[in-house]
Amino acid sequence: MTPDELKIAVARAALPHVVEGALLGVGTGSTANHFIDLLAAEKIQVAGAIASSEASAARLRGHGIPVLALDDVIASGRRIPVYIDGADEIDPGLHLIKGGGGALTREKIVAAASDCFVCIADDSKCVDVLGRFPLPIEVIPMAAALVARALSALGGVPKIRDGFVTDNGNVILDVSGLKISDPVAFESELDHLTGSVTNGLFARRRADIALVSSAEGVRTLRG
Ligand code: 5RP
Repeated sequence: MTPDELKIAVARAALPHVVEGALLGVGTGSTANHFIDLLAAEKIQVAGAIASSEASAARLRGHGIPVLALDDVIASGRRIPVYIDGADEIDPGLHLIKGGGGALTREKIVAAASDCFVCIADDSKCVDVLGRFPLPIEVIPMAAALVARALSALGGVPKIRDGFVTDNGNVILDVSGLKISDPVAFESELDHLTGSVTNGLFARRRADIALVSSAEGVRTLRG
């Protein structure tokens, strides 16, 4: 199977996790894009989608799926039963690295607001220890050098993502050279870096379920 076929297979496997008639959190990236297209093609009805990026919001709207603002949803006391999104890395405890597409901040917010996070990925994303994929960190532009210096002191090699601006008007540092054996503790440590908005470790709010595709089919992992 090609990489794209593996993404389509796992996106399709996520469809039964959608609660029909309810709100749905929708992630960002090529796997999430396949999921959005299949959701529309299969005519699965949701009350509305909460998107984790402007790109996903545009794709949802292009299919006629209403997109709601998270803040309005939460303020009105409504629940988001399921959030479906891809990942850049998944460890055996379903801790994730995300943000390869630069949408980590809104992804973390929608994941935090959702009752169940279903992660969809092909098995090239599965690792024993997080860190092979450079960890994205969204940073306030004026603090990029300051945060980079702090990340270097932590043993990482930060590199600014050239020419990239997030939906929130910030920049991304991609940090290589990390071996993240305690993702929960490291996420908390990174949360304290002044000038950083969000780090791409999804550890405290990890995935509840990971659907992982390979040539043998799609397997379901639970945290
Ligand atoms: C975007 C993300 C994506 O979920 C992640 O990069 C995986 O993308 P893809 O499905 O294209 O491999 O975190 O910020």
